[in-house]
Amino acid sequence: MGTKLYIKTYGCQMNEYDSQKTVDILKQDSNIEETSNPEEADIILLNTCSIREKAEEKIYSELGRLNKLKIKNPNLKIGVGGCVATQEGAKIFKRAPYVDLIYGPQTIHKVPALLKKEHKIEAVDISFPIEEKFDSLPESDASGPSSFVAIMEGCSKYCSFCVVPYTRGDEVSRKPIQIFDEVARLIEKGVSEITFVGQNVNAYKHTLNGRTLGLSDLIEVCAGIDGVERIRYTTSHPLEMTDDLIEVYSHVPQLVSQLHLPVQSGSNDVLTRMKRNYSREHYLGIIQKLRKVRPNIKVSSDFIVGFPGETDKDFQLTMQLIDEVEFDASFSFVYSPRPGTPASQLEDPVPLEEKKERLSILQGRIDELQLMYAQELEGSIQRCLVGGLSRKNSSQLQARTECNRVVNFDFQNINILGKLVDIKIIKAHQRSLTGKLFDILEQESA
Ligand code: SAH
Ligand code: F3S
Repeated sequence: MGTKLYIKTYGCQMNEYDSQKTVDILKQDSNIEETSNPEEADIILLNTCSIREKAEEKIYSELGRLNKLKIKNPNLKIGVGGCVATQEGAKIFKRAPYVDLIYGPQTIHKVPALLKKEHKIEAVDISFPIEEKFDSLPESDASGPSSFVAIMEGCSKYCSFCVVPYTRGDEVSRKPIQIFDEVARLIEKGVSEITFVGQNVNAYKHTLNGRTLGLSDLIEVCAGIDGVERIRYTTSHPLEMTDDLIEVYSHVPQLVSQLHLPVQSGSNDVLTRMKRNYSREHYLGIIQKLRKVRPNIKVSSDFIVGFPGETDKDFQLTMQLIDEVEFDASFSFVYSPRPGTPASQLEDPVPLEEKKERLSILQGRIDELQLMYAQELEGSIQRCLVGGLSRKNSSQLQARTECNRVVNFDFQNINILGKLVDIKIIKAHQRSLTGKLFDILEQESA
C-alpha cells in the first residue's frame, strides 16, 4: 500500500498551484497517493497563507488539531509550507514542536528530501531558489478542462501593507519555452482553458533571442496553439496594464472578457500611503481604454477597507469608484497590520467597529451590482466551458461563462465535459446562474 498524503491549501492562486505541483513532485519521488481524510494520512502538509492575521492564526489552530493525530500515529509527518513558513521559519517548532518539516513557496521541489531528514533543524528550507524551482517542476498531472500555469513568482512592488514581497521574494519570470511546453502538454491531456498565474502576472518579462517578451506575447503565442479555447490571467497590477496588453483584447478572442485588477482604494491619499504608485484617474484611464477594445469586459477588484487613517471621505471615494467602474464580484478585507511592513507603523485612529461597518457597506453594494449584472444575462445565450458535475445537484453539470460565473444546467450527454457549449441563461442567483443547454432547447422547440 502506498503512502497517503493529505495536503491542505490556504490563500491565493499561487498556493493552489504550488500544492498541485507538490503532489506531482511527491508522486514522482515515491509511491504516494492523495487522501482527503487527514485521519488516514502518513504525511500532512499545510500550504499556508500569512496575508492577514486571521489567516495566520488559522494555521496554528489547525496544527493544534493535527497534533492529536500525531499522538495516535507517531509515524505521521507534519509539514508547514507557504508564506507562514517563510515568515516564521524554525520559530514554528517553538509553538508546534510536533512539526517535522518547514518549507517555503520556493522550495516545494525539496519536500521529498526534507521528508527524509533525521534532524528537525535540517528539515527547514525557506530559501528563494525560484529559477531552480521552475526548472524542477514535473509534468502536470491535469484533471479537468481548466489548468493554472505559473509564469512568474514573487512581487517587487512592496505595497506598504503587504507581506508578499518578504514571503515570496522579488519578481522572477519563468522561461518562455517552459511555459509553452507546459501549455502544449496540458492541451494534449484535454485541457482547454489556461489561466496564467503569478503574484503580479502582468509584470512578466523575459528576454528570448534578444527580444523581451511580456504577458501580451505569451497570450498571443498560446492563443495560436491548437486546442487553447480560453485564456485567463491573474493577478494583475494596474501599473503593469500596458498598452500592448490592452491591445491584445482587440484581436485575441480566446482572451476572456473578464479581468481581476485590484484597485484597493478609490482615494488618492490612501493610494499614496499604500504605495500603490497610481492614482484613481490612472486606474479609470485603464478601464476606459479596455472598454474601448472590449466593451463588455467585466472587471473585479480587491479592496482594503480601513487602511490606517482612512477617513469617511476616503471611503466614500472608494464607493463612488465602485459605481463608476461598475465592478463585478470582488474580494474585500478590513486592513490587517502585518509585522515588518511599513504600514504597520502608521497611526490608525479609526476604530475596528467602524472599519467593519464600512466593509459591510462595501460588500453590500458589490453584491447588489453582482446580482444586477447576473440578471442582465437572463435570456441571453452564453458560451460556457463545462467543468464537471454541479456541486449542489449531481444530476446537473456546471459550466463557466466568459465572465467567470457558474451556470448549472441539465444534460443528456456527459461527453460535453470539458467542451465549450452554448447555454441559455434562465435564472440569475447571487452566486450562480441556472441555464439550459442550447441544443436541448432546439430539440424542445422542434
Ligand atoms: N497581487 C497579489 C495580491 C496579493 S494579496 C495576488 O497575487 O493576488 C491579495 C489581496 O489581499 C490584496 O490585493 C489586498 O487587497 C489584500 N491584502 C494584502 N495585504 C493585506 C493586509 N495587510 N490587510 C488586508 N488585506 C490585505
Ligand atoms: Fe502585495 Fe502589492 Fe505585491 S498587494 S503582492 S505587494 S502588488
